[in-house]
Amino acid sequence: MKIGIGNDHSALELKAEIVEFLKEKGHEVVDYGTYTAESCDYPAYGEAVGRAVASGEVEQGILICGTGLGISLAANKVKGVRAAVCSEPYTAKMARAHNNCNILAFGARVVGAELAKMIVETWLNTEFEGGRHQRRVDMIMEIEGKA
Ligand code: RB5
Repeated sequence: MKIGIGNDHSALELKAEIVEFLKEKGHEVVDYGTYTAESCDYPAYGEAVGRAVASGEVEQGILICGTGLGISLAANKVKGVRAAVCSEPYTAKMARAHNNCNILAFGARVVGAELAKMIVETWLNTEFEGGRHQRRVDMIMEIEGKA
């Protein structure tokens, strides 16, 4: 799978571990930055990955900041994005199975590397169930079109 990844300065090390993990699993990774430890503004990276997912440039996105919150909030402002902050595998599984989320976010100051890998693996191995969940996801996306 082609996966876009983005992060702020708080998540440089964790991002590197996740990129390596994804490549070991055979995924193609596009890194939208940030690339240095210099303090930066997470909305830019949330938006970049959000746009890449929404345009189909990548199939799924992963975003990491200190908490996963700010960067996912930014991504969720891009039309077509459903980003979810997941700090454990159960939420990651349900975010895919029921909410058909297309961006996984988590916090480098919240989860350790091994837990993050379990969350990522669960996310990538879970398919959207469709059915009644499709109707609900459609309802969420219709909100984007309202003033
Ligand atoms: C940066 O200090 C921190 O605010 C950011 O990484 C993130 O946690 C924001 O939601």
